[in-house]
Amino acid sequence: MTDLFKEKSTNWDANEMRTKMSQAIGSSILENVKLNEQMTVMDFGAGTGLISAQVAPHVKKITAVDVSESMLEKLIAKTELKRKVEILCQDITLNPTGVQYDLIMSAMAMHHVKDTNNMIQKFADHLKPGGHIALADLDTEDGGFHAIPTEGVFHQGFDRDEFAGKLQQYGFTNVKFVTAHIAERKNGSYPIFLALGSKK
Ligand SMILES: C[S@@+](CC[C@H](N)C(=O)[O-])C[C@H]1O[C@@H](n2cnc3c(N)ncnc32)[C@H](O)[C@@H]1O
Repeated sequence: MTDLFKEKSTNWDANEMRTKMSQAIGSSILENVKLNEQMTVMDFGAGTGLISAQVAPHVKKITAVDVSESMLEKLIAKTELKRKVEILCQDITLNPTGVQYDLIMSAMAMHHVKDTNNMIQKFADHLKPGGHIALADLDTEDGGFHAIPTEGVFHQGFDRDEFAGKLQQYGFTNVKFVTAHIAERKNGSYPIFLALGSKK
């Protein structure tokens, strides 16, 4: 599989817009999900670990899942994450692991996955009964968030009501949304939701 983030990975963490966004999403997860030191967590589309780094101190273990080797190489180079975060370079939407977690969190990765229904089904499969989701991505946007046409972008954000309907369809309950951040770009403001819920 082509690594679509090979170039971007080299200075991912140096981009201020991204780090602000990750900080806000991480804070929103910490505010809205009851974490504890027994919890096992999947960070779906973990990238360089900007979200994992914020959550790791509060949980037992994080599996950072991504299809980009280069992004995960940046993550494992962060020695402070070694104790709590393991990496898995695998497309779990196509090759599920069979492991179930207490929480699946994700930041800005879902718009890179073509089949949203299948992805949500796989999230449900990878969660223990009563397990939680905390999924952040763009609200429906005009296509301007990615300034230039970008390979591997399949969705111009997500409509909250439609996304909530899909989550409920695949067995999630207590579904609610908060606005985690508003990304400011030259061409406009882009709200980012955090979808919360639990598996029945
Ligand atoms: C915009 S980056 C976000 C990275 C990180 N979550 C952050 O907030 O900095 C999207 C990430 O999703 C990953 N990704 C895309 N499709 C994926 C898939 N099917 N499974 C896992 N990760 C995927 C990309 O490789 C990339 O690292």
